[in-house]
Amino acid sequence: MRRLAYIKTFGCQMNEHDSERMLALLEGCGYQETQNLDEADVILVNTCTVREKPEQKAYSILGRFQELRENNPDLIVGIAGCVAQQEGERLLARIPTLDFILGPGKIHHLPEILHEVEKGKRGLCAVGFEDGASVNLPLPHTEQLRAYVTIMQGCDNFCSYCIVPSVRGRERSRPSGDILAEIHALIQRGTKEVILLGQNVNSYANNDPRELTFPRLLAKIDEIPGLERIRFTTSHPKDLTEESIKAFGQLKHLCEHFHLPFQAGSNTVLTKMNRGHTREEYLAKVKRLREVTPQISITADVMVGFPGEGEEDFLQTLELMRAVEFDGLFSFKYSPRKGTRAAQWRNDCTSEVKQRRLEILQELQREITLKKNKALEGEVREVLVEGCSRNSPHKMMGRTRCNRIVNFPGGSELVGKLVFVKITEGLQNSLRGECCG
Ligand code: 5AD
Ligand code: SF4
Repeated sequence: MRRLAYIKTFGCQMNEHDSERMLALLEGCGYQETQNLDEADVILVNTCTVREKPEQKAYSILGRFQELRENNPDLIVGIAGCVAQQEGERLLARIPTLDFILGPGKIHHLPEILHEVEKGKRGLCAVGFEDGASVNLPLPHTEQLRAYVTIMQGCDNFCSYCIVPSVRGRERSRPSGDILAEIHALIQRGTKEVILLGQNVNSYANNDPRELTFPRLLAKIDEIPGLERIRFTTSHPKDLTEESIKAFGQLKHLCEHFHLPFQAGSNTVLTKMNRGHTREEYLAKVKRLREVTPQISITADVMVGFPGEGEEDFLQTLELMRAVEFDGLFSFKYSPRKGTRAAQWRNDCTSEVKQRRLEILQELQREITLKKNKALEGEVREVLVEGCSRNSPHKMMGRTRCNRIVNFPGGSELVGKLVFVKITEGLQNSLRGECCG
């Protein structure tokens, strides 16, 4: 009998990657993926707790699944990801019908846990990190043109607002041999682009002198035959070294895109955030990245309404944005996270203030993004074709090396190919173009 699994993923690329690997494990147990909730035999919610919003969304969706379960007592419901790690057994008190709880460091235990649940056990909980550091999880069954590859997990930075160190643990790097072997295997199955993942990739293997440094690892990956593109995320400005910056001028397949969160433009706020860098140091790193690679696209994360952020501090965030002119920006309202230092501080920023600051900031970024996209009109860019365009079956969609989405007329025979596209129109969120070779 065909058994079906439905996975709902919240949060970052790390979680998307974990969901792919959990699906591969489920497939190994005889399940197939379904997008249709009503026909699922197993529902897995992969949660995020980095901000209040994704966490609330996860709880509300779990409530809905509980109702489904009332109609179908055989339905298995599990919760994975960062809420699972943070709350552990407490989740069982809150949602007694849960079958299992699986933290991000215990993903490899999914088959045993599922087996137990199938035998009738309920309320199983596997969280913690002690043996999850260098486990090689099975590759997804389907071919992936762009594939995530975890190179390190966890974070040692303890920014005062951030829950990541407690839900993803301390920094642990995967052996470079395992990473390279995984990329080889992915290429055998059609992968053309890898996105190296870690909470802080620039400190890859920092505490292991026998291991490759991050830029050396990039250089090794760059030599793998058949791989067309390399990307990585996320970087912390304080750990970004000159050697890593120079890799951009030297490695053929390393794409010209850098995601470098700055979080705030004011030094007072940065200090309270325990970021370990000043606004001037951040600007200096951006300057170096652009000196080495003038066409590099730079994106970042920023938040508004951190405790103590005054109007003057906020204006400095806007000023930094104008100085850098980011190609894209992910912006958030600060939300206190239980267990972090900042959660204990009084916050004078009301939700109205946060909302107003976010709107001003996003409006400014929209102007900058559009201006930058328009500036590409008439230019020719290399595009890796990913599939059909969302809006038209006669158009294809791909990404430039700088990570911009391009839609252009073409057929599905182009999927997986690198083509040159002349940009004809720069829009707010994408580009239009014409294939020219
Ligand atoms: N509140 C709001 N945003 C946060 N981020 C991390 N923690 C919080 C928080 N407590 C944002 C940061 C980070 C991104 C992944 O989420 O900008 O870079
Ligand atoms: Fe969310 Fe952080 Fe967990 Fe990613 S690692 S899912 S951003 S809490």
